[in-house]
Amino acid sequence: MTFPVSKHVAAMKGSSTLIAAQMAAEMRASGVDVIDLSVGEPDFDTPDFIKAYASEGLARGLTKYTATAGLAEFRNAIVDFYAARFGSQLSQSEIAAACGGKQALFNAACTLLDPGDEVLIPKPYWVTFPEIAAFCEAKCVFIETEETGFVLTAEQVRNSISARTKLLIINSPNNPSGRVIPPNEMKKIVEACAESGVFVLTDECYLFFAYPPAEPFSLACLSPELRNFVCVAGSFSKTYAMTGWRIGYTIANEEWTKAMVKLQSHSATHPTSFVQYACAKALQNSDATIAAVNAMTSEYERRRNWFVPALNGIRGFKCPMPEGAFYAFVDVRELFGDRFADSAAVAEALLKEAHIVVTDGAGFGADGWLRFSYATSMENLHRAVAAMKGMFGEN
Ligand SMILES: Cc1ncc(COP(=O)(O)O)c(C=O)c1O
Repeated sequence: MTFPVSKHVAAMKGSSTLIAAQMAAEMRASGVDVIDLSVGEPDFDTPDFIKAYASEGLARGLTKYTATAGLAEFRNAIVDFYAARFGSQLSQSEIAAACGGKQALFNAACTLLDPGDEVLIPKPYWVTFPEIAAFCEAKCVFIETEETGFVLTAEQVRNSISARTKLLIINSPNNPSGRVIPPNEMKKIVEACAESGVFVLTDECYLFFAYPPAEPFSLACLSPELRNFVCVAGSFSKTYAMTGWRIGYTIANEEWTKAMVKLQSHSATHPTSFVQYACAKALQNSDATIAAVNAMTSEYERRRNWFVPALNGIRGFKCPMPEGAFYAFVDVRELFGDRFADSAAVAEALLKEAHIVVTDGAGFGADGWLRFSYATSMENLHRAVAAMKGMFGEN
């Protein structure tokens, strides 16, 4: 029997990032010494004190359902943390817990979009954004940003808004480009949207991974009038090295939040109770938490500072300096010609000849580019650069 997969799911593309990771796993299983630069998760362990809070939650019997929107303690901790860190004035009724940033994004989009609505998605985009829009039968309208160095501007947004535009999805610091939209421009982008009644879904998954002089900036700090148009999708995954814990949250106006909670009450219900507890405690203990995050950010910055110039030393590679996240996004179009027709071919050659796994930019809407993750050891980065210099030569 051929299983009659629903049209929504049949139309979805597999995640190109997961495909690369799977290839790396298969090669490793067959004994190849693979250098995996495709990973989209921190190579650090969750800080011990956060693990201890989870044990404490279990010991306190937090093993039952919580409210669908999450424990009051969790939601209040987010309110207080954002107030202290970003000067936001949020209320508990604007917060809902979700099972990771991904579910937060799904909840936000599925409660807003109707078939035929237009969703603005700047290129390059995180692979999941167009899939969520398509799942809601909305139409993706992509915004080209190469001429502004992959940094979205309010003008580009304004020029892309039509009478059918319902939502803009942004992600800064950005996966895959590592670029950061300056706070002033972010505000202007929301203003441009609000003027036309367009909502903004901001994926702040890499919020704290902004390297000086860039600084962490959340749209949760906007005025209540502008915030009415914004949903922040937050995540503990990357910031606190907690990818496997599956916890995130939304910050949105009360009505949007209620709709998301209603939707979630028929899907995951809520993230794990003692995980919510651990996250609440971690945010309450903000000095220790921020210190742990800063230590990780500094290490990513150290790697970036070595890796990006080294990539630019490889013949045919051009890599703008990323201001955030933990990805280097490399323009390899100079290599195109007899040997390589596209970036997928370069990625394949890296895998076959140098056993280096990277992610092809085509999946992010940027054919001609490759994404290299530096959420890996300095030793791996050194080995990879040496192998690539051997393959392509030096500048
Ligand atoms: C831009 C972006 N948003 C969201 C996510 C999902 O994170 P979570 O683990 O919180 O679902 C990822 C994970 O790779 C990501 O890169």
